[in-house]
Amino acid sequence: MVRHGRDSFFVVGEGLLTPDTVAGSPAQAVAATPAPHLAEALALRQFRFSRIGPQGAPASTQLVTGMADVITGTAPDQDGDIPSGYTYLGQFVDHDLTMDATGKALGSDVTVDELIQGRSPALDLDSLYGRGPTDDPQFYTDGLHLTMGRTVGQGPILPGFDGFDLPRDPAQSTALIPDFRNDENLVVAQTHLAFIRFHNRVLDTIGPVPAATVFETARERVVKHYQWMLRHDYLPRIVDPGIVEDVFTNGRKLFETSPVAGDAPTMPIEFSVAAFRLGHSMVRDGYNWNRIFDDGQGTLPLLFNFSGTSGSLSGTDLLPSTWIADFRRLYNFAEAGRPDLVVPPSKFNMARKIDTRLTNPLATLPPGSFGQAGQQVPPPQANLAFRNLTRATMVKLASGQQMAALANVTPLTNDQIVKGDGGVDFSGLAAGVRDELTSNTPLWTYILREAEFNNGRLTGVGGRIVAEVFHRAMEGSTYSIVREPQWRPTLGPDSVTFRMVDLLLFAFEGRADLLNPLGDDLPPQFEIVELNRGDESFFVEIMQHLLRARGFGLIADGVFGPITEQAVRDFQGSQGIAVDGVVGPVTWSRLFITVRRGSTGEAVKGVQVRMNQRQADPIAVDGDFGPLTEAAVREFQQSRDIDVDGVVGPITWRQCVSEPV
Ligand code: HEM
Repeated sequence: MVRHGRDSFFVVGEGLLTPDTVAGSPAQAVAATPAPHLAEALALRQFRFSRIGPQGAPASTQLVTGMADVITGTAPDQDGDIPSGYTYLGQFVDHDLTMDATGKALGSDVTVDELIQGRSPALDLDSLYGRGPTDDPQFYTDGLHLTMGRTVGQGPILPGFDGFDLPRDPAQSTALIPDFRNDENLVVAQTHLAFIRFHNRVLDTIGPVPAATVFETARERVVKHYQWMLRHDYLPRIVDPGIVEDVFTNGRKLFETSPVAGDAPTMPIEFSVAAFRLGHSMVRDGYNWNRIFDDGQGTLPLLFNFSGTSGSLSGTDLLPSTWIADFRRLYNFAEAGRPDLVVPPSKFNMARKIDTRLTNPLATLPPGSFGQAGQQVPPPQANLAFRNLTRATMVKLASGQQMAALANVTPLTNDQIVKGDGGVDFSGLAAGVRDELTSNTPLWTYILREAEFNNGRLTGVGGRIVAEVFHRAMEGSTYSIVREPQWRPTLGPDSVTFRMVDLLLFAFEGRADLLNPLGDDLPPQFEIVELNRGDESFFVEIMQHLLRARGFGLIADGVFGPITEQAVRDFQGSQGIAVDGVVGPVTWSRLFITVRRGSTGEAVKGVQVRMNQRQADPIAVDGDFGPLTEAAVREFQQSRDIDVDGVVGPITWRQCVSEPV
């Protein structure tokens, strides 16, 4: 199973590092399967990692678990100044950099050179193209264009849309793309789709060239524009622009400083296990996703759910049209002089500030996101901070202090490391653990602390590692703006400008109805009810049942009194959302619990209360989801023009607590 990370690291010059190599560390806890003993030939086929710094001392279990709890335990997080589309562009780039391009080619016809090249980090979009139309025809429609998928309509209100999801093959459970890590959540999936569209559009605008070279001509143009956008738009947003400028003007100081021409790049573990995991701190717990899932209702768990790897989509369960992205909410098109594509600030999604905090749902990842779909995983292993810190122990990663000495930058002080600047505060850790933290700071946290003291941009150690690895990965790519410095973009507004907004405008033909096919002006037929203290209704009763399902000991009597209000406030506090005692769309979406035939308990009672509002023969409110409840739910779904499947998931729940407008 491909996952967003990996369990073993083949480090050039050191061999294979597996969880078993670090005795007594928590590393073993996050390995899905013990790595088999590999012969040298097999090891060659491993993705090639390297080490910029020295080996470090693995952090103790107490430090790893103590830090992970603090890092994921403090909500709510602060918004930064980077539009949140860039978070998932970063995840898309990570998959491009760490793609095992020869994964499907482990046969005997692959030469060692090809293996090494294929398993080297380069910014060349192999996660989009695979091995190209000749070797991977399944990703292409006509040997040139990349295939796109269709969404599934929602009753008469919304039709299915062609070209608004990843292609999905009924014969397989995953999306039909070279790297199905790009189907790990809906945002990265829609980002991948934007790149498919970009390639297809570039292809259609290629002038007369011999038929045999059309594809490569398009690919070269796509890759160079992509690299230009990363160097001039993405990188200066996440890394101190002075460092980016220095690296791209004066060259690298730390990493593969003078490679022999033609040598394939490697991937330093300081980048993949620490620095570039910076993106985890940018993830939000809720998004104003589109006009339907607005006001934070595009929650992270739902964005996982509407994907193939971490959720429920498959070759036959397609993306509902209601979930198509509104790109205007993820990128700021004012930058491209398109005020007609700008949404009000309250609808826009900013990434969380790059700092030491991780949003709380990342403490309970869906197991599919790390390749263990359907398995029961002990809690710490589902915590992303725990996983990141544990990986570092596994490969004996250098500490922040060791890397600061190597990069010759001023190290953070002990006080800065413990208290930070608006991020997490480690003062509560036991004294001994705190001492370990300040003398041997795990690199990932160290780099995020540096960013915290630099207004949310990587600097010092982190800035240098990220800028240098991007530089090397462009230099080592088949098509390279680093090796061809005179190259200039042709698909942006002028010969020096090509940003992500320009890429999207080109890919979606500058059209609002493609960048946001759901539009703004279709008035919803039903609106979610807001509940306040003093209200008395069956909606209140449903809400009380949902609170009871969360362990709150109140009576479900349909009266919104002081005890109910206190329970609502406590629940809101536990979720890290605004504590106002009012049950609006965001609180509702946090309360919903998916129930289906066979489910029992308070949430089922809530469904039964709702169904009885329209049942000629009321069903018993007994918390038992039997055939009568299912039949009632199916009828209800039909009446609201939503998928009739008898399951009360987020969409049906929303309808349950909505009234006609
Ligand atoms: C919702 C969003 C995301 C989720 C759920 C997620 C989850 C994960 C998981 C589970 C791992 C493997 C952890 C391990 O066992 O070592 C991982 C690795 C990683 N993540 Fe993410 N991630 C997300 C977004 C991002 C972003 C935005 C970036 C960068 C901008 C990023 C960069 C990385 C890197 C560099 C690795 C190591 C990859 C490798 O070595 O192959 N991730 N992530």
